[in-house]
Amino acid sequence: MQIQNGMGRRDFIKGLSLFAGTAGFGFAAPQSAQAAPQQKPGDEMLDYPVEGLDSGVKRQLSVVIMGAGGRGKTYAGYAARFPEAMKIVAVADINEYRRKSMAEKYGIPPERTFGDFHEVLAAGRIADAMVISLPDDLHYEPAMAAMAQGYDLILEKPMAQTEQECRDLLKRQRETGAIVGVCHVLRYAPYFRALKAAIADGLVGEVVSIQHMEPIQYSHMAHSYVRGIWRDSKASTPIILAKSCHDLDIVRWLVDRRCNAVSAEGSLMHFRKENMPVGAPPRCTDGCPHEATCPYSALDIYARRRKYLGVFDLPKGYTEEDILQKLRTTGYGRCVYQCDNDQCDHYVANLLFEGGLTAAFSMEAFTPWGGRRTRVMGTRGFIEGDGTAFTAYDFRSSRRRTWAKKVSEIPGYKGAGHGGGDWALVRDFLRAVDKRDESMLTSSLAASVESHVMGFACEKSRLAGGKVAVEV
Ligand SMILES: NC(=O)c1ccc[n+]([C@@H]2O[C@H](COP(=O)([O-])OP(=O)(O)OC[C@H]3O[C@@H](n4cnc5c(N)ncnc54)[C@H](O)[C@@H]3O)[C@@H](O)[C@H]2O)c1
Repeated sequence: MQIQNGMGRRDFIKGLSLFAGTAGFGFAAPQSAQAAPQQKPGDEMLDYPVEGLDSGVKRQLSVVIMGAGGRGKTYAGYAARFPEAMKIVAVADINEYRRKSMAEKYGIPPERTFGDFHEVLAAGRIADAMVISLPDDLHYEPAMAAMAQGYDLILEKPMAQTEQECRDLLKRQRETGAIVGVCHVLRYAPYFRALKAAIADGLVGEVVSIQHMEPIQYSHMAHSYVRGIWRDSKASTPIILAKSCHDLDIVRWLVDRRCNAVSAEGSLMHFRKENMPVGAPPRCTDGCPHEATCPYSALDIYARRRKYLGVFDLPKGYTEEDILQKLRTTGYGRCVYQCDNDQCDHYVANLLFEGGLTAAFSMEAFTPWGGRRTRVMGTRGFIEGDGTAFTAYDFRSSRRRTWAKKVSEIPGYKGAGHGGGDWALVRDFLRAVDKRDESMLTSSLAASVESHVMGFACEKSRLAGGKVAVEV
């Protein structure tokens, strides 16, 4: 099958830009996700120092990777980069290709190459630390067991599927003294660190309110939350946790105050059977009459644009036919209007913090770009940022100060995911383990439980209506 360029995509994206620019949140749409929207000639540049990624720890930490998918590979990558500080000594993955690839890359012997994660737990403690990068429903059980066995943990978010399980994890951590770094990686990204420093330095006076938006991006939404492994809120977690626990966490971290209450709204409006265009077959590969105009065409997203191909474990030198075969045989080829999905495609939450500070959060599927957009309103100034650069305005002096460091140009940061946050988390984890000092990690289990509880409270509010108290 030959893939033709789709008509109508440009019009669609143009439409989305207009939508993003005029939605209730009122964010001006920047030219691209990389552009610093407000930077002007003559702006003073803010220059907060960025720490390197080398932990400086002399002792080599041995690590077992539980789940050698996208995230497992990312954290293991730190060991390839800084082998003196971290060594991958075991791996578990039920997917043979991923398990073998990781074993090969890190020289893991066959007796330390496992299938199901239970096999690792049954082997006793075989490493200093464990990375739990399994699917959302497989975090709680191994984390509880591993802490009891004496492991320190890098634990993917969401840490568990219920509020009670989050509290159990915290209790277990306190009993065992395990060092646990939860993967709220944005806290470690130079952009967010600079934003927090600017607020702490008083560039806006006292913070009164925040607007924070997570634009998921339309094809990422279709890939992960309509066709992909987070499509079912019960099998994984509701999207406010599966996707946006980062955002609740980063807002909580920026304001540095307890959240007292939340109220939320949201629903799945678009990716439903009743919105299916007439005559669409169950798979985009089955000659769909709407393929050339549908923004969610699997042929367009995967075969033409070559996006998100990591999920397919394609062989080296793969061809278009290899991709099409995956679209015929996996969930990723399905029509987005005929999937077993239930995640919201738009979600808003009002967050009330101590002292009356408020934050308005908005998660949006229908945007042309991903990343984050944040506005901070203070008594003396205002900050606006797009996830890569921000500008602080001072009301009295009209001074404009901009932070716009290109993370890829910071020595050592090229290729580090989440704006550098992924490997910076590992760096701080190694230091915290070395010194047995949890405070060297910002995304400790205790801090992360708090923002997870905010997420569960949002979901309660969305489903039952009304304001829900956040009790940590
Ligand atoms: N911190 C972040 O920014 C971030 C980003 C993306 C995903 N995540 C989270 O990280 C986790 C992993 O996500 P991912 O994108 O790497 O997913 P993934 O599907 O790429 O990786 C998960 C791996 O676990 C393996 N697996 C499943 N069941 C198993 C079992 N019983 N025993 C052993 N292996 C098993 C799968 O085969 C797969 O390779 C998820 O919880 C996700 O929500 C976090």
